[in-house]
Amino acid sequence: MTDAAVSTAGLELHYGATPVLKGIDVALGKGKTLALLGPSGCGKTTLLRLVAGLLSPSKGSVSIAGHPVADAATGLFAPPEKRNLGMVFQDYALWPHMTVGGNVSFPLEMRGIGRAERELRTKRALERVGLAALADRRPSDLSGGQQQRVAIARAIVAEPQLILFDEPLSNLDRELRENMVGELAELIATLGLTAIYVTHDHSEALTLADEVAVMRGGLIEQLATPDVLIDQPATPDVADFLRLGGVAELEHRDGLWFFRGSDVALLRHRGQPGDIAQVLIPTNAITLGDIAPGRLAATVLRSQFRGDGHLASISIVGPANVELQVLSRTKLRPGEGVGLSIDPARIRSFGKTTFSSTEETFEHA
Ligand SMILES: Nc1ncnc2c1ncn2[C@@H]1O[C@H](COP(=O)(O)OP(=O)(O)OP(=O)(O)O)[C@@H](O)[C@H]1O
Ligand SMILES: [Mg+2]
Repeated sequence: MTDAAVSTAGLELHYGATPVLKGIDVALGKGKTLALLGPSGCGKTTLLRLVAGLLSPSKGSVSIAGHPVADAATGLFAPPEKRNLGMVFQDYALWPHMTVGGNVSFPLEMRGIGRAERELRTKRALERVGLAALADRRPSDLSGGQQQRVAIARAIVAEPQLILFDEPLSNLDRELRENMVGELAELIATLGLTAIYVTHDHSEALTLADEVAVMRGGLIEQLATPDVLIDQPATPDVADFLRLGGVAELEHRDGLWFFRGSDVALLRHRGQPGDIAQVLIPTNAITLGDIAPGRLAATVLRSQFRGDGHLASISIVGPANVELQVLSRTKLRPGEGVGLSIDPARIRSFGKTTFSSTEETFEHA
């Protein structure tokens, strides 16, 4: 634990009687990026502020590079400027009255670094984000993407051991955001930074992070690498939040697993009569076709283009409230009927029952 670049133990934060963080334990290795992912209000910014030293914990502790920087039990609290970290926020927080160069060199000035050294390091930081030519401009004369780059240059100029990002790209339009995610990942890797990156965008988190903490209601629901999260989401909430597919409840009878409360069978696998299982049917388990014998009948609810095809939400004909996601090359129209084949080996169970060894083919009745 002590050799982690940043760690928290039993971290809690209460506003009055309201708990906002309810016991957070994370340990992040040097040079790794952790994404905090979760819906609005789950406590992501609060956790980041506790690490930064902008908030003091109600319970538990925070350590950076093996040294405690906050501990509710002893009252220890190191202010932000003693934590050797850089921060980038959603709204950039640039100083409008200073030039770009002035903004970037400010943290060096605060550390009492001499002018020649400041100029050299400011130039280098601006070069790293591709803005060396704009050092004399005012932030108001830059585009949103350029302003965010200035904020990143300012955060890295003092070469902090840890950098904290709070939804840094959420004010940018989609195309710029997608480009900057890749650039940021590259910059973090090149500089060997340890980073915590707050987002509510699952694709940003999965692109950037070595580890992702999926948060909900002040707790971490699952902390794992992107590969593990995608392959083994711990709960239906995690699967849902990562848009991995549709979640359904199944019940066992006559040697088959049926969608609960219906006569539509999904797969053949052992089980006890009356057993209930909650499963994820991943998008990539489903092959689309026409309505035909041996395929599940479904109706298209809505569809959206997402770069590599149309992602459609569909409902299975029969069981109530089962919504799945499928990828289609062609555009699907709401109300259209489609046929589905589902690969049983890709179905993931959240409970004790496992279907992953299911290899026999099954013709849907
Ligand atoms: N100063 C405060 N006083 C009382 N409650 C607060 C305060 N600041 C935040 N909260 C509450 O704490 C909870 C977590 O807030 P936080 O800002 O950490 O959420 P978040 O995950 O960053 O959300 P978002 O994605 O919307 O930024 C919210 O319910 C919020 O209303
Ligand atoms: Mg927030």
